[in-house]
Amino acid sequence: MTDVLVVGSGLAGLLAAVRATDAGHRVTLVTKAALPESNTRYAQGGIAAALFPDDSTDAHILDTLRAGAGLCDPAAVTVLCEEGPARVRDLIRFGVDFDRDESGITRGLEAAHSRSRVLHAGGDATGAAIEAALVATVRERANRAHALGGDQITIHEHTMLVDLVVDAGRVSGATLLGPHDRRRTVTADAVILATGGAGALYRHTTNPAIATGDGVAAAWRAGAVIADVEFYQFHPTALAVPGTPLVSEAVRGEGAVLLGSTGERFMPAIHPDAELAPRDIVARSIAAQMQSQGGAPVLLDATGLGRDLLESRFPTITAACRAAGLDWALEPIPVAPAAHYWMGGVATDVWGRTSLPGLFAVGEVARTGAHGANRLASNSLLEAAVFADRAVRALAETTGRHPHFDTELHPAHHEPPAGSADAEPVVVERTTLQNLLWEAAGVHRDGAGLADAAATLAGWRSVDRAEAGVAELETGNLLDLGRLIVAAALAREESRGAHHRADFPDTRLELARPRFTVRADARTLVTASSTASEAIAC
Ligand code: SIN
Repeated sequence: MTDVLVVGSGLAGLLAAVRATDAGHRVTLVTKAALPESNTRYAQGGIAAALFPDDSTDAHILDTLRAGAGLCDPAAVTVLCEEGPARVRDLIRFGVDFDRDESGITRGLEAAHSRSRVLHAGGDATGAAIEAALVATVRERANRAHALGGDQITIHEHTMLVDLVVDAGRVSGATLLGPHDRRRTVTADAVILATGGAGALYRHTTNPAIATGDGVAAAWRAGAVIADVEFYQFHPTALAVPGTPLVSEAVRGEGAVLLGSTGERFMPAIHPDAELAPRDIVARSIAAQMQSQGGAPVLLDATGLGRDLLESRFPTITAACRAAGLDWALEPIPVAPAAHYWMGGVATDVWGRTSLPGLFAVGEVARTGAHGANRLASNSLLEAAVFADRAVRALAETTGRHPHFDTELHPAHHEPPAGSADAEPVVVERTTLQNLLWEAAGVHRDGAGLADAAATLAGWRSVDRAEAGVAELETGNLLDLGRLIVAAALAREESRGAHHRADFPDTRLELARPRFTVRADARTLVTASSTASEAIAC
């Protein structure tokens, strides 16, 4: 039996916890907020899988590779698309009630898919349906274990990952910050990171506030290899109101169109697939259109779909519009791009194994190579399910094995801003950081802006982690990640997928490879647990 610490409670973390419990491991599941709060919960469009007679695994693989703009790992894409249908059937067994009509499960079309293959639940509440089913399954496992006097699975909510514990190069647990600012160290044979993405890096995001990249930041500090962090996906259509709620691509899949401020469609002139062009192209085109109209959001016209379809197929978006005083059955709604999904993250192999023995990463926290430079719509829930399942299988087979990546060293320290070598770094302020990242490392980038941002970031510091509370720890993580993204975006002198540089507008064939980086001082890292005030074994 293996003691497994799972960090995070979206689809990836919950499924890993269930699978690991069922495999006979002893699981401790920790999550920063309440159990159901996660990025998964807000996913709308659905989960893509080649499950229908007019579709094929090969077609799904091809679409995924095309969207990934030359940077996908074909092995990871093959695993994703081949094993996806089985994992979707598992979700159905766990109680996810995908939408159906008289002919069976219904499916939607999203951008850059050559077939309709996106399953959805509750109309546009797919993530919420998956989250609810898995939360119920995990709680049921925990209650059953408790009733029988066992400890096969214990759940700790409102408990944040502070840092990983590394002993002699092996991850052996984590330092956690629980309710009432109580710190403790949990030891484990294996840690599975499932902490999601880092939308909170940016001024506008579709992610919930908890998405602060805690897992990637902790893995980086612990000396794990990370990859492709310059590739952050901006969803083309967030409702341009406070909170920027997502307006699913499935709405355009049903026929809604994008309009400039004078009411004309602008996408047909840009791409043959118009509003269903790959996500990065639509996001950039909207940003350019907004620039040309003084920053005003563009409009999404879904009025042609009719009130009945809008309300039944998209109840979540209908409610968001209503809360903002908009009736999208009657009038076009304002939309703009927002940070949505991180293709980069902790580098893993196809078994979720990272470069550090004992450490696994699954879901958005991981860079499996399945998404390349630009994730295909609705492949993220699928990736979470497929690789969570594989990571648990790998626990049994391969304790001690971990992949090797050809890394470039990343400097541990950043140059101070020019002309201020003696200046004391100032404590980073989260909103200022988000604005900086949005302007310099957002939808549009260029070398001068990125270099300025790198210099500004070098002049900031975070609060001492030993003293910090949750918000300060999160902001410290965002600062570490902001530096990594800006440095990686500066280093990639081309445009590819979600990474677009005005000073290098073309894709360069010779750069069609991922960039694996590791802290320059990673080999000297022994432990990250010096702040632990109490040690318990899980
Ligand atoms: C959407 O519903 O447009 C989002 C789907 C995704 O991000 O994959």
